[in-house]
Amino acid sequence: MNKVYEKLTKCYESIRDRIPIEPKVALILGSGLGDYANDIRVVSTLPYQEIDGFPVSTVPGHKGQFVFGYVGEVPTVCMQGRVHYYEGYPITDVVLPIRLMKMMGAKILFLTNASGGINTNFGAGDFMMLNDHISCFAPNPLIGENIEELGVRFPDMSSVYDKDLQQIIRTVAKENGIDLKEGVYAQLTGPSFESPAEIRMLSKLGIDAVGMSTVVEAITANHCGMKICAISCVCNLAAGLSENPLTHEEVQEAANAAAPKFKNLVTQSIIRFGAETGNL
Ligand code: HPA
Repeated sequence: MNKVYEKLTKCYESIRDRIPIEPKVALILGSGLGDYANDIRVVSTLPYQEIDGFPVSTVPGHKGQFVFGYVGEVPTVCMQGRVHYYEGYPITDVVLPIRLMKMMGAKILFLTNASGGINTNFGAGDFMMLNDHISCFAPNPLIGENIEELGVRFPDMSSVYDKDLQQIIRTVAKENGIDLKEGVYAQLTGPSFESPAEIRMLSKLGIDAVGMSTVVEAITANHCGMKICAISCVCNLAAGLSENPLTHEEVQEAANAAAPKFKNLVTQSIIRFGAETGNL
């Protein structure tokens, strides 16, 4: 059997008894959203370090557990904390949680992250829904023998971010008076922030916001047939666009400040997914 798939199935078998509900939505919480699970009707939690072979985040501010519960009436598995490629895990381990949540039954993947704003119309604290992404700066998680059980060798990427989910998020933002930007996100590997020259390059490529996650997860979820949506919390102006040097603390503070509005947008959107996509 394909080694990556073998690890995945072993991992799934080892936690099978600890999955109390069949989640419809898988939600990944980025920086600052870590305590979102307080807003969920929690059924149970599963710390990553109790899962054999599961990648555990080392980033301050990222907790490390699955939370199973209900957002409104929608059964949801929520990742409180994710791992990033820059932590040193092989890329197939970085995306293992996505495949695991697909195996749990999740049909929709809701990605969130923190980013630096490149589009000059964006400011710290803005939210940007992803319409598309640029992946060329991070390794493709599908490199290696294809896992036929999950998807095809050459997946189409013409509409990774689901149009219906995007429309629901737009409507929810409008109804709640949230100014929702939209744009293209690029994942770079990090962990260093970008240089001003890199940001000028990304700007010329049509990139609106930059971060260190999400795209590899979206590629993986698209490969295995999940519906995907993603919202980024723009936590700072990207390098060279303001006078200030960038720090992780600044990113966390901005994410924490935006968290209440962000949580509301995420919660209301998931509830609406449940209502409008019917039998998910
Ligand atoms: N660059 C990359 N990742 C980030 C940034 C940034 O400016 N802000 C938050 N995550």
